[in-house]
Amino acid sequence: AAPPPPPKQEKTVFGPLKDEDRIFTNLYGRHDWRLKAAMSRGHWYKTKEIVLKGRDWITNEMKVSGMRGRGGAGFPTGLKWSFMHKPDDGRPRYLVVNADEGEPGTCKDREIMRHDPHTLVEGCLVSGVAMGARAAYIYIRGEFYREACTLQAAINEAYDAGFLGKNACGSGYDYDIYVHRGAGAYICGEETSLIESLEGKAGKPRLKPPFPADVGVFGCPTTVNNVETIAAAPTVCRRGGAWFASFGRDRNRGTKLFNISGHVNNPCTVEEEMSITMKELIERHAGGVIGGWDNLLAVIPGGSSTPLIPKNVCDTVLMDFDSLVQAQTALGTAALIVMNKQADVVKCIARLMDFYKHESCGQCTPCREGTGWMMRLTNRFVTGDARPEEIDLLWEVSKQIEGHTICALGDGAAWPAQGLIRHFRPELERRMAEFAAKNSTKTGSSQS
Ligand code: NAI
Ligand code: SF4
Repeated sequence: AAPPPPPKQEKTVFGPLKDEDRIFTNLYGRHDWRLKAAMSRGHWYKTKEIVLKGRDWITNEMKVSGMRGRGGAGFPTGLKWSFMHKPDDGRPRYLVVNADEGEPGTCKDREIMRHDPHTLVEGCLVSGVAMGARAAYIYIRGEFYREACTLQAAINEAYDAGFLGKNACGSGYDYDIYVHRGAGAYICGEETSLIESLEGKAGKPRLKPPFPADVGVFGCPTTVNNVETIAAAPTVCRRGGAWFASFGRDRNRGTKLFNISGHVNNPCTVEEEMSITMKELIERHAGGVIGGWDNLLAVIPGGSSTPLIPKNVCDTVLMDFDSLVQAQTALGTAALIVMNKQADVVKCIARLMDFYKHESCGQCTPCREGTGWMMRLTNRFVTGDARPEEIDLLWEVSKQIEGHTICALGDGAAWPAQGLIRHFRPELERRMAEFAAKNSTKTGSSQS
């Protein structure tokens, strides 16, 4: 018998991504975003053929690609779309695009809608076909006024060209897209809260299950996906799921948009290969840390809901789902917030606690009350005006929130507080000792 083939060698070095392998070719707005220019860059190419290949083929390509949702949670995209493949029960199906990008540090979807809107418009059609949907709602963050206008203009162009509406792209498939603007609440980025808001109600998350695939917008089967996920789908279908899967490593496939902000020389949004090292990503694309890599203190790797990691972890961590989980954090929205040694890390986390307290919808007690506790404690830690045992109290409060709430906002508030304690407890203790020493000196001198 023939010897078995040698095991497939997994890559160990990731990035830099070549220009020809980029999905988002106009991220920096150097070229025209309008239809004609977008088509010259390869968008809307053979879309009719993709649509005609149908629901199962498109869904299967997404499964082969290994794509995991780009909104933060990383749920496998092809699998999620397959939840919509149910026997027809008379209810219409909907695609809802989550463009309510509100995670602090995150602005990747904004760049797509601002400079490359046709990737998203075409993506709505292709993914809608995979779900059996005849309409998509794009729920866009209220503050993104300029992007909403650009997006609407791109949609209008697609209608005028016959790419949307009745007989979209000449495929026989009817498809419409509606843009709906949010009104400034972070919680409306949570998918069930977004659905409530789209229905005209207050944006309060629903308990899951039922998941939107069973009961979504207007009580109908719905898939809510992030802008980047949907916008990447046509290119994945054109070039093949296997092409996308050739980037990154097992369970962490594809190319990915990263935002890099904070103490770097050149804050930017860049598409790179998944699993690139954090150090290379920052040094190659963001001009490095201000003051050099040795001046790095910590990085929040995936938007404000992901716990920070200190420099020694940043030295080797890969920018993907698994490596960051191993480092006790997460890829989240892939938005890196870089802090160098001149940053006040305690103040930074306290500021985030103010944010979560403000944005909590107040529906469940652990989040409503707990975010207030965490805000007050961390703000006292900034000056050191607290007792050392309150560090454990903060930990305990965060653990009472984690996993005990209706939606992920509670977890997202608890994790940064836990990250601060995990890596910067000595700094918290130092501030408290310094505050206590100063205070006792004052008391001592006034007594003498
Ligand atoms: P999740 O893990 O609850 O759900 C992920 C997706 O998979 C959802 O669409 C859900 O409906 C679907 N799903 C999960 N299990 C399923 C099942 N058994 N059957 C059918 N569908 C299922 O996470 P969630 O709440 O959607 O997202 C949380 C993440 O969002 C956070 O980790 C954070 O990183 C990110 N986030 C992103 C923001 C942004 O601006 N992009 C803002 C805030 C948070
Ligand atoms: Fe509202 Fe917070 Fe509960 Fe989410 S976790 S439903 S934001 S109170």
